[in-house]
Amino acid sequence: MVKIAIFASGSGTNFDNIMKRVESGELAHIEVTALYTDQPEASCIQLAQQHGIPVHAFEPRTFDDKAAYETAVLNGLKHEGVEWIVLAGYMRLIGETLLSAYEGRILNIHPSLLPKYKGKNAVGQALNSGDKESGSTVHYVDAGMDTGQIIEQRTCPIYEDDTQQSLEERIKSLEYELYPAVIKKIIR
Ligand code: GRF
Repeated sequence: MVKIAIFASGSGTNFDNIMKRVESGELAHIEVTALYTDQPEASCIQLAQQHGIPVHAFEPRTFDDKAAYETAVLNGLKHEGVEWIVLAGYMRLIGETLLSAYEGRILNIHPSLLPKYKGKNAVGQALNSGDKESGSTVHYVDAGMDTGQIIEQRTCPIYEDDTQQSLEERIKSLEYELYPAVIKKIIR
């Protein structure tokens, strides 16, 4: 078994999907020790409870600085014997404390065909670009925003009548296949 922690800040549908794949045996070699969130009100917390997964909710602003926040997170990860960190809608840059402890063992999923449309509202950026195609990327995490080495991408069309919501849904349905597939391949 490889122990991973999932980090999320919002709705947590990718987290939920990964949990379902673990429970179904498709990711039988993965144990999710806990959900880590920086948003104590986020709805990913209820999903974790439904899956019987412990939650570590932190309020970064209550710490002196990013290093102090990440040291608290790191203590939890070490205590649980976490080997890999899987970011799934975690809306915060990973700092030096976590990067140096988990170098090469942090994954992220981003809703664009990187290196296009890094950062926030990648779906809106693609929609406004006139591009005919978008998709999702899983990459290793480094100190930059969505800049780490790309592992795998899936593409989908952008239609003329797409809205933010319709494109977001199409990309998420790709992500629900892409992320478990990459986790299966990369995390061993
Ligand atoms: C996903 O589209 C992912 O690519 C991005 O944030 C979104 C998270 O969605 N990093 P959810 O919380 O998993 O529904």
